[in-house]
Amino acid sequence: MRLIIALMLGVIFSVAHVTAFAEEQSKIAKRVDALLQKMTLTEKVGQMNQYNGFWDATGPVPEQGDAKTKYEHLQQGRVGSILNVAGHEALREFQDVAVKQSRLGIPLIFGFDVIHGHNTAFPIPLAEAASWDLTAIEQGARIAATEAAAQGVNWTFAPMVDISRDARWGRVAEGAGEDPYLGAEIAKARIKGFQGDDLAAVDTIAACAKHFAGYGYAEGGRDYNHADMSYSTLYNEVLPPFKAAVEVGVRTFMNSFNTLNGVPATGSIMLQRDILKGEWGFGGFVVSDWASIMEMTKHGYATDDRHASQLAVIAGSDMDMQSFAYVNHLEDLVTAGAVDESLIDDAVRRILTVKFELGLFDDPYRYINKKREEEVLGNNTHLKAAREMAKRSIVLLKNETNLLPLSKKQKNILVVGPLANDKNSPLGTWRLAVKDDSAISLVEGLQQHTSAFQYTQGVKLSIGKETFADPIVVNTTDRSGIAEAKALAKNAEVVVMMLGEHGYQSGEGRSRTDLGFPGLQQELLEEIVAVNKNIILLVASGRPLVLSWADAHIPTIVQTWQLGSESGHAIADVLFGGYNPSGKLPMSFPRSVGQVPISYRVFSTGRPEPEEKVFWSRYMDEKNSPLYPFGYGLSYTTFGYTNMQAEVRDKASIRVSITVKNTGKRQGEEVVQVYIRDKVASLVRPVKELKSFKKILLKPGKSKEVEFILDRDSLSFYKDDGKFVFEPGDFEVMVGGSSGSVLTKTVSL
Ligand code: GLC
Repeated sequence: MRLIIALMLGVIFSVAHVTAFAEEQSKIAKRVDALLQKMTLTEKVGQMNQYNGFWDATGPVPEQGDAKTKYEHLQQGRVGSILNVAGHEALREFQDVAVKQSRLGIPLIFGFDVIHGHNTAFPIPLAEAASWDLTAIEQGARIAATEAAAQGVNWTFAPMVDISRDARWGRVAEGAGEDPYLGAEIAKARIKGFQGDDLAAVDTIAACAKHFAGYGYAEGGRDYNHADMSYSTLYNEVLPPFKAAVEVGVRTFMNSFNTLNGVPATGSIMLQRDILKGEWGFGGFVVSDWASIMEMTKHGYATDDRHASQLAVIAGSDMDMQSFAYVNHLEDLVTAGAVDESLIDDAVRRILTVKFELGLFDDPYRYINKKREEEVLGNNTHLKAAREMAKRSIVLLKNETNLLPLSKKQKNILVVGPLANDKNSPLGTWRLAVKDDSAISLVEGLQQHTSAFQYTQGVKLSIGKETFADPIVVNTTDRSGIAEAKALAKNAEVVVMMLGEHGYQSGEGRSRTDLGFPGLQQELLEEIVAVNKNIILLVASGRPLVLSWADAHIPTIVQTWQLGSESGHAIADVLFGGYNPSGKLPMSFPRSVGQVPISYRVFSTGRPEPEEKVFWSRYMDEKNSPLYPFGYGLSYTTFGYTNMQAEVRDKASIRVSITVKNTGKRQGEEVVQVYIRDKVASLVRPVKELKSFKKILLKPGKSKEVEFILDRDSLSFYKDDGKFVFEPGDFEVMVGGSSGSVLTKTVSL
């Protein structure tokens, strides 16, 4: 009886919630229309114009100026948004001009790249994805929103949800890896964290699903390059996280720099009008990426900025980030009849709706509050959460001789490597509001556990400026520290080496053709291995690196990514066993860069296995498989998988269960993953596709039966015409703790 009452109450509550939301939306719609009636064409176009602030340029600095130099545009109501500025003083100054000096006083919306934390840096998004912990990921976004909103930010250009199988592309650091299902689940968690339940609350901000679409498939892994793919690849691999973002209520999208099948995303009617605003019914607004409207001329798609403005607004790009294209050309395009004013009205309605939802019209200064800013920023609760997230993002790749966890009694530890003492790199890329050099370094983290170590750099990694907008200059000549490191390593009981990439060697504009350790780090590693075999290698990178040599020579390897403000504490917690590592790779780690792009979601081909010495789908000089597969990660304990069941639940769904046992001596967490293979279909399907997962905690010796339901959608796929189809037949169902190690059953539907 109580269950029935609870269910009824649940239904009543959700119906009430939906009705209240609908009522709120219709009130806002009325207020938007009333305002739109009063606006001149100049003022409408103004809402579609976004200027950069003066803090940081996150793209090529425009000759035409920015918000600071275009004050008169603010006074004339010709600016709708400003990006890259935060803090109550700067924002109050801008908001005052817009609200008190322009004719209609329409408040500005302030955008910022809140990508992995705001003042408190969380692990880079790819590292967070390795936690597979949706609750922790949502909480991290919640904290980031709280800090950003306290600094007056209303809108983050996150989450970046680009799927990519190509570690040469530096922006894999910002995403959730190679898998559409994991990417969609993480996108939803991040958006819920940023937007909360009420966009008008003073600790929530509008989120932005980016970069729409196909950016992660840039040819050659070279940033900004073109992307070519079939529509079934687009729908099955690239779009799922974007569609999930719309379903969970994301309020903005950002389009991407790349062309998709020959059309710049910014000018793509197919992407922005047909799919996003048409098929998916997206009601928010689309902002261009930095000057991507103007860049359509360089793509060879527009003759000039005026033509680019026309193409972009017709395609559904609602706001122009910093290319001055809209503010310079849209009015005369409308006057000349080249653009219908109804398109302008639609874009402005979308933008104003989000501003109303944020509560900016009720109080343009609600987010600009000195007292709250001081109270909220970088408080210890946030740092604690960042440390927890960082621990959960670490992936144990190898621990062959159980060098880990280290005992507190361990003596004579040598710590080596340029990144071990670096307080900047752990902050990663895209952390404009984080104080430079504010991360806890590995050396500082170790000091909390032991004094029985000494540190030597071995080699420098970077020798030039280390900023967001400067290329890192890598040391390739100064070997002066290697001899000392080698001499010290000879007598050490254990050597902890932290090698990898500088925090600014991944992210935007950071594509690489070589996925090894930059500079002289590999040389340093080999010199140390020559004199000491007890090495714990910590890989601090923003992307999968090629670790084949290390895997062949080093007994213990840990992927520590770039873990944010609490990096050193989190790594030390894991090294000394305070936390049992539970991370699983969100991207395949290749054996060689020649294998890239690489993913576990491969297709069978007509010659999948070696029936012959030569004539099958292989490389002559490398295995097909990755060095470490998607979903892989070890623990200080072990887990056994038994008693797998997979049976038809109804015509188009399958019930799966598995018993997982902690067969080791210490408590640990395991990500139980479920994959399928649609054996025969009207389009060939991958040999494996992730369709569900659960992260469970088990005490030593304990078991748990874990159940999954694979519904019709889980078993369906998109055809080239965008139709989502389920085709009855045989399905392989696979369960395990890695895509590379599964139990398999076949089910016929
Ligand atoms: C950059 C990035 C985008 C970012 C925007 C604003 O070029 O591509 O991800 O949000 O500009 O900084």
